[in-house]
Amino acid sequence: MILGIETSCDETGVALIADGRRIVANQVASQIPVHAPFGGVVPEIASRQHIKTLAPLVRRVLSDAGDVSVTAIAATHGPGLMGSLLVGVNFAKALAFAWNVPYVPVHHLEGHIFSAFIGDNAPAFPFLTLLVSGGHTCLIACDEPHKYRILGTTRDDAVGECFDKVARLLELPYPGGPSIQRAAVPGNPRAYAFPRPMCDSDTLDFSYSGLKTAVLYALRDTFGDKPVPAPQVADLAASFQEAAVDILLIKTRHALAATGLTTLVVAGGVAANKRLRDRLQEDIDVPVFMPPMALCVDNGAMIAAAAHSRLEHGVAHDVRPAASASLPLA
Ligand code: KG4
Ligand code: ZN
Repeated sequence: MILGIETSCDETGVALIADGRRIVANQVASQIPVHAPFGGVVPEIASRQHIKTLAPLVRRVLSDAGDVSVTAIAATHGPGLMGSLLVGVNFAKALAFAWNVPYVPVHHLEGHIFSAFIGDNAPAFPFLTLLVSGGHTCLIACDEPHKYRILGTTRDDAVGECFDKVARLLELPYPGGPSIQRAAVPGNPRAYAFPRPMCDSDTLDFSYSGLKTAVLYALRDTFGDKPVPAPQVADLAASFQEAAVDILLIKTRHALAATGLTTLVVAGGVAANKRLRDRLQEDIDVPVFMPPMALCVDNGAMIAAAAHSRLEHGVAHDVRPAASASLPLA
């Protein structure tokens, strides 16, 4: 019975997981309303908000769970916002010390990978992971538990970050991913021919800043300083989303072919995107494992699930005691 704590960015997530895959209690306190007026996450506000939210949320999860005995406490120790990470790490360490149970530090991306293990239908190793979030866009060969090879990563913006920036250009509310998905529904995905950068090359790296700039130029060239009418916002959102998703699919197919891996995991906040989920079902011919929508964005359950596996495989001891804003996965 593992308590998982996630405070790397703008969600305070706390969950209790049994046997590595069964959710006993799960609470996420989103800071979206606090950061929305600024159009993005303000680090100092985020860490102060985690301090306010974390202890009441842990109490709430323990009371939701009823009479349980916690056997380990896990927290994200990186990468992420340093102040925010320190809140979760120090809380978890203190509680683990007080309760005399192990503290298990977990890499944020490993947490996202293990979100696909929650529930009845877990993938078997080896598999390829497409990890798409606000801070990361990577293809990872997951050869065996806790052994990762990064095959490709973004050279500039992450795909979620690109959704967020394009939403700002279109004057859609933060966070951009869900706003663009909503705005795109009545739009024509072929209205604008946006580029698919780096898709003709052999590299498995990504580049998303050119796509964002292409949306900016299309806006300027067509509308200048005038407000963009709603039907054109829908067309721009749909065409952008199609390009963003296309790039992910092209690179994922390349990675499957290059590695010979025959199972795909897709995780991270952008994995909640409906168009991406539909296209994966249509265009990828290996079994695809995705967490349920609610576990795509940051949460404590995925951190507890990863910690369970670390304890099971005897790799729960980490000599790096503190949080790290730029912790490498592999
Ligand atoms: O994994 P996550 O919660 O935090 C990070 O680790 O970054 O991902 C947040 C990102 C944001 O950029 C958000 O805009 C994006 O995930 N996102 C989406 C959707 N829901 C969240 N992007 C596209 N479509 C969505 N439905
Ligand atoms: Zn995340």
